[in-house]
Amino acid sequence: MLSQIIDGKAVAQEIRKKVAAEVQKLRESGTIPGLAVILVGNDPASELYVNNKAKACEECGINSKVIRLPQKTPEDELLLLVKQLNYDPEIHGILVQLPLPLQIRERAIIEAISPLKDVDGIHPENIGKLWTGNAYLKPCTPYGCMELLKRTVPDLRGKKAVVIGRSILVGKPMAALLLQENATVTLCHSYTQNLPGITRSADILVVAIGKPGYVKGEMIKPGAVVIDVGINRIEGKITGDVDFASASERAGWLTPVPGGVGPMTIAMLMQNTLEAVYGQKNILR
Ligand code: GUN
Repeated sequence: MLSQIIDGKAVAQEIRKKVAAEVQKLRESGTIPGLAVILVGNDPASELYVNNKAKACEECGINSKVIRLPQKTPEDELLLLVKQLNYDPEIHGILVQLPLPLQIRERAIIEAISPLKDVDGIHPENIGKLWTGNAYLKPCTPYGCMELLKRTVPDLRGKKAVVIGRSILVGKPMAALLLQENATVTLCHSYTQNLPGITRSADILVVAIGKPGYVKGEMIKPGAVVIDVGINRIEGKITGDVDFASASERAGWLTPVPGGVGPMTIAMLMQNTLEAVYGQKNILR
């Protein structure tokens, strides 16, 4: 039997609709949520992501301010911009599209963003809150993966979850979120030995390594839930980190690429912008 498909596009739409309704209420009470997105340089993939983010904002009633800076922008100029946005009362969320050009230290920029406006959830303060079980803003992609997982596996307690990839934006926060739901988490990376042995024990497998088709069906436990975070471009086509054909003969559930995690990342960015408004206005929910 072939895997069931986890329809990220449909779930993302449902979440965006809910956000739009809450934004409408905020607007009626005089607050217009605002998101600033900064893009340095003109990497075509980043350009596409940023445009999609702006489109989603418009659909949800969030004001978006896209700021495009030249590739050669010096670090202090970007730092100054971030600091100005920190104090801008019309801006509730700040997202600096990564990666940044080499002359800019990513960490310096991330640490300059007000933790209250850090809709990527990667400021050290927010990372600390996440790992202590007091998450404020959670990184959008793993947050989206968790929404998909919760709809597929209502009770994650005691499940064996394996995450491949340990990036700041995906792998590490994914492990923290799974741990928070009481899954037993293994975080794998490029130095992990006997990876297929580990992945074959996973009830839940999350793959975020940026290697097209890397995880084959034989690495998957029959019936497992597989979340493919990869977005790889090969000859103009988008493919995931999981080999869909062989995986769909083993997994119980599988996210497609495109149409799986990708749309969820943007939906959770909208959700985070809303949560940032609540955080800054001290609105308890
Ligand atoms: N580049 C690729 N994904 C992301 C993301 O989620 N946030 C930011 N800031 N940059 C990215």
